[in-house]
Amino acid sequence: MSSEQNDMVIEAVVTAREDQAAGIAVFELARADGGPLPPFEAGAHIDVHVADGLVRQYSLCNPPGEAERYRIGVLDDPNSRGGSRAIHRDFAAGTAVRISAPRNHFPLHMEAGTSVLVGGGIGVTPMLAMAYALRAAGKPFELHYCSRSRDRAGFLDELAAAFPEQLRLHFDDEDAAQRFDPKACLGAQPAGAHVYVCGPSGFMDWVIAEAKAAGYDSGRIHYEYFNAQVDTHGDAFEVVAARSGVTLQVGPDQTIIDALTKAGIRVKKSCEQGVCGTCICDVLEGTPDHKDKFLSEEEREDNDQIVVCCSRSKTPRLVLDI
Ligand code: FES
Repeated sequence: MSSEQNDMVIEAVVTAREDQAAGIAVFELARADGGPLPPFEAGAHIDVHVADGLVRQYSLCNPPGEAERYRIGVLDDPNSRGGSRAIHRDFAAGTAVRISAPRNHFPLHMEAGTSVLVGGGIGVTPMLAMAYALRAAGKPFELHYCSRSRDRAGFLDELAAAFPEQLRLHFDDEDAAQRFDPKACLGAQPAGAHVYVCGPSGFMDWVIAEAKAAGYDSGRIHYEYFNAQVDTHGDAFEVVAARSGVTLQVGPDQTIIDALTKAGIRVKKSCEQGVCGTCICDVLEGTPDHKDKFLSEEEREDNDQIVVCCSRSKTPRLVLDI
């Protein structure tokens, strides 16, 4: 997708709202002018402009190929930093909303023999689109949906109807035999299987660690964090914004993006938790101290990009292409 398309703002409207299990609302969005929406692939998300200066990302959960609507599931999270709470409070059928074109940092690898989709809580949303895409392509997959309890799980009727063969449900408060066991699940897959995981960060860390322990190489482990607790503190260092011709100090309690903003250099940002990738900058010199949950292991090792809302520097000086 071109950067022009990435920056595209679409005037949309909420066409339907369905309140499902405790705290989950599903919204359908269409173009306000009734035209077709940009196409998307499974795993894609859109930015939703919730309010002035408040932009949040939500995975699309409808079947890829639908051009008349986008569908998102939003959890009314008590720990919300304002986004999901405001959507639950303010969005209803008829609400005008500005959205971005879809971006996909979590694509399916259709060459995989088998795909194992693992969604924890509201992290099931990208798995829905993936399951629709895999089913349409006739590819084998399993869809594991983990939730604290049945009454806190959304999409249950839809999942049961659409994927009766592939769906496996796991509830924390039901008998131990049905609880998700990543070691057993991933260990039982045929060679070359790929695993996809999305959900709370602790859950994801656990599944990713078990996938590695089961022998999955990093090219077969795919994930998308939607929030993270990041310790952004550390030693002070110098940042050179090469294109802007500005050199600045990043203090121990400051992030690079804060220091850049203070110096009048604008960097696009959204989540400010190192999960969405909006604020990535190219690194020209120096070694980043990666703290984000966005870059892959290979991208971290290359050290030529940095997520400036949370990552720091291992070297006293970092030169950025900004
Ligand atoms: Fe989301 Fe930095 S703003 S990763």
